[in-house]
Amino acid sequence: MRSLTFRRPDDWHVHFRDGAMMQTVTPYTARAFGRAIVMPNLSPPVTSAAMADAYRARIMACVPEGVSFTPLMTCYLTDHTDAADLVAGHKAGIFTAAKLYPAHATTNSAHGVTSVDHIMPVLEAMAENGIPLLTHGEVTRAEVDIFDREARFAEEVLAPLLARLPKLRVVMEHITTEEGAALVRANSARMGATITPQHLLYNRNALFQGGLRPHMYCLPILKRERHRLALRKAATGGETCFFLGTDTAPHMRHLKEADCGCAGVFSAPVAIAAYLQVFADENALPNFEAFASLNGPGFYGLAPNEARVTYVERPARIAQEIEVDGAGKLVSLFAGESAPWSEDAAS
Ligand code: NCD
Ligand code: ZN
Ligand code: ZN
Repeated sequence: MRSLTFRRPDDWHVHFRDGAMMQTVTPYTARAFGRAIVMPNLSPPVTSAAMADAYRARIMACVPEGVSFTPLMTCYLTDHTDAADLVAGHKAGIFTAAKLYPAHATTNSAHGVTSVDHIMPVLEAMAENGIPLLTHGEVTRAEVDIFDREARFAEEVLAPLLARLPKLRVVMEHITTEEGAALVRANSARMGATITPQHLLYNRNALFQGGLRPHMYCLPILKRERHRLALRKAATGGETCFFLGTDTAPHMRHLKEADCGCAGVFSAPVAIAAYLQVFADENALPNFEAFASLNGPGFYGLAPNEARVTYVERPARIAQEIEVDGAGKLVSLFAGESAPWSEDAAS
C-alpha cells in the first residue's frame, strides 16, 4: 500500500455558494485544504470589498471547530467595476484577486464582462497594483463550437491582453486544452493555471457513458483524449505554473438532472484522492506536493502551509448523495463508488 506525506494543500478554485448549501459543502474543503480561492459568482455576485468581507465572515461561520482554514476572496468583474474599490480592497487584504467571467459563459455570469475592452482601466490598475486576474477562459459567441471556446479565448482574448499589459499577472482557471496549457507555459513568468480532477481523469466520452451523464457536465466542458493527456503532463510534470484548483461546483441533484441541467462537478469530498490517483497512475507521486501545496502559494506570493498530511492508497466508500438541509441532495464525484486514496487517520 503506497503512502504519501506532503504539506497541507490549498485549493485555488472553489465555489462555496451561500446559505444551507455553503453550510454543507464548506467543511469538506476546510478539512482537506489550508486555504482556498473563493469564487464570487453568487447571485447577486460579489462585486465590492464590503460584499467580499461579509461573504468571508459567512464562510468562516461554516468552518468546523478546531479546523484551521483561510478563504481568499475574489472580486467579480463587471463592465462597471469600481477600480478604486478593488485596489483599496486588495490593499486592505480583503481581495486576493479579481475574476473575469465573460458574460453568459458559465453559472451566474450574466453580470460578467461583455468585452475586455470595456474594463481596460480596471485591468491597468490591476497590473499596476499586482492584483492577479483570474479568467474563466471561454469565448461565448454562438458560432464558436463549445469544444473550441477555450482555445479561441486563449488566442483571441488572452494573448492580445498579455501583449497589451506586460505587467498583468493572470491565472487561466480550470484549463481543459493543450492550447490553454501551451499559452500558460509560454508566459509562465506571470501566468499560472488551475487544473480540475475531472479534466485529468476523464475525456468527453464520460458525458455519454452508456447514456447522458449530467454529473459529468461542467464548464469548460470535458474535451478530447489528447487534451486530457496534455493536462496530465502539465499537472504531473513539476512545472511551477500549474497548480491544484478543483473548481468544486455543487448544484442540487434535481437541478443537474433536469431539462436544462446546471454545469458543475462537486468534487470537494474526494478531491485529493482523485488527484492522487492521477499522480500515482503517472508514476509522479514525487511531484504531487509541488502541484498541490507549493506552486499555488508560489504564484500568489504566499508561504506554503507548514502542517503535513499523510494519505494512503486505501479505498474509501463515497456516499451516493449528500443531504443539504431542506434544499435537496448533492451528488459528488465518485458517488456510490470508492475513492482510491484516503487520509491516514493518524495524520
Ligand atoms: C461553475 C459554477 O457552477 O459556479 N460551474 C462549472 O461548470 N465550472 C462556474 C465555473 O467555474 O465556470
Ligand atoms: Zn469557470
Ligand atoms: Zn469555477
